[in-house]
Amino acid sequence: MIIREMILKDVPAVALIEQECFSMPWSEKSFCDSISREDTIFLVCEEELTDCGTHSPKERGGRIVGYIGMYLSFEEGEITNVAVSSSYRKRGYGQRLIQAAKDKAADRNIKSILLEVRKSNASAVSLYRRNGFEQVGIRKNFYERPAEDAIIMKVGI
Ligand SMILES: CC(C)(COP(=O)(O)OP(=O)(O)OC[C@H]1O[C@@H](n2cnc3c(N)ncnc32)[C@H](O)[C@@H]1OP(=O)(O)O)[C@@H](O)C(=O)NCCC(=O)NCCS
Repeated sequence: MIIREMILKDVPAVALIEQECFSMPWSEKSFCDSISREDTIFLVCEEELTDCGTHSPKERGGRIVGYIGMYLSFEEGEITNVAVSSSYRKRGYGQRLIQAAKDKAADRNIKSILLEVRKSNASAVSLYRRNGFEQVGIRKNFYERPAEDAIIMKVGI
């Protein structure tokens, strides 16, 4: 499995995982617009194929199993998307995506990272806590379909 920058070719596969995971998914256009910006970090987790010949993983085009997105503003990052395809969960890919995004953010002089997560999303909250994120606030009824509070979490890097 490799973690690398998201490119346009990845967007259809990413958008499919997004639809599988969220009731209000980002569109392909939202991903395309975001990855073309300078002030973002968008990474994918790609399965490496064993029958690889002489081509690089990027050229071979293995299956995209997860992704993470972050917007950068001054010295702060905001994670906007993280997901791993359901049949690939609990294998450490979410963890690797968070760590890779933190490393890339640190390289770009980001000092802290914020995110919002549904209060009931125990697996994501646990993943974030494991990576040093702490609750810094609540946004009442932030989410729709279904309505739910968001927990705001933050980590210094
Ligand atoms: C949250 C998500 C990205 C985790 O991805 P993953 O690849 O399964 O996570 P990992 O295997 O790397 O697990 C890392 C840590 O996350 C937490 N975690 C992951 N799945 C969990 C689960 N089902 N229950 C509790 N904790 C869980 C644990 O802390 C785990 O560490 P541990 O294995 O030492 O206990 C994945 O469940 C997902 O895509 N969910 C749907 C989309 C989503 O909700 N995204 C977050 C939006 S804010």
